[in-house]
Amino acid sequence: MESNMNLKDKVAIVTGGNSGIGLAIVLELARQGANIVIDYIAHPEATEDLEKQVHALGDKVIGVMADVSRVDQLQNLVDAAVKEFGRVDIMVNNAGVETRTSVLDTTEQQFEKVMNINLKSAFFGTQLAARQMIKQGGGGRIINITSVHEDWPMPGNTAYCLSKGGMRMLTRTAGVELAPHNILVVGVGPGAVATPINLVTMNDPALLKKLDDAIPLGRMAKPEEIAKVVAFLAGDGATYITATTIFADGGIMQSSPGL
Ligand SMILES: NC(=O)c1ccc[n+]([C@@H]2O[C@H](COP(=O)([O-])OP(=O)(O)OC[C@H]3O[C@@H](n4cnc5c(N)ncnc54)[C@H](O)[C@@H]3O)[C@@H](O)[C@H]2O)c1
Repeated sequence: MESNMNLKDKVAIVTGGNSGIGLAIVLELARQGANIVIDYIAHPEATEDLEKQVHALGDKVIGVMADVSRVDQLQNLVDAAVKEFGRVDIMVNNAGVETRTSVLDTTEQQFEKVMNINLKSAFFGTQLAARQMIKQGGGGRIINITSVHEDWPMPGNTAYCLSKGGMRMLTRTAGVELAPHNILVVGVGPGAVATPINLVTMNDPALLKKLDDAIPLGRMAKPEEIAKVVAFLAGDGATYITATTIFADGGIMQSSPGL
């Protein structure tokens, strides 16, 4: 086990926590000593496997099935954290989906799905976690997993960009509103990360090469590289960062006109 126990006995909720970036965040926060509520919507067996890995790191963990696009189910996550572990110190709004559809062909249903799972969930996840943090006192951290596309157009994925742009302003506005409570709200903006959301690109050598060539560091990020940024923002080294986004994108926003 690593000796860095920066987050010893902190309690974290990670939405969309049993795959990809969320899974890596669960493991990194646990490695640093946090107890975790893993939110998931599918694949209970993946959650059970992850719970075992967290236990093996010496931390407490529960998996809770909750659809983050529903406010009552987000409240269930906060309630489960308080019931099991007594508090919430870190809320990671990570769950997200995309439709890869343009402004011309996105349906109302696709639009609502993306906005509800990505943005509505982050808004109410922030609200409900912050209410609990204020009740218990002592501040807290809310970390929104946004994207380079909070700022950077992705033609052919319009609703996704809108949702991430909304998370950008949520982070900034809620960060200012909650600062008097010492609740820090920060976005983490990944570039391209090797996770299930990118399987189409990862399974197509030509598309993958085009992507790698566009990234100054020459490769997609590993989920662990994003998780370490989240753990930093949740810990003692990040007491003065709020209402902003930290990008971890291999330099792509500075070098490519869009993909
Ligand atoms: N992979 C990338 O290149 C990349 C880049 C930038 C940002 N992101 C963001 O990172 C986050 C995690 O994505 P990922 O790459 O790990 O992909 P992923 O598909 O593995 O993770 C998304 C998770 O959200 C969960 N989810 C979907 N709908 C849900 C709902 N209604 N309630 C609860 N959970 C739900 C999924 O089950 C899944 O576990 C997303 O917000 C995504 O937009 C990813």
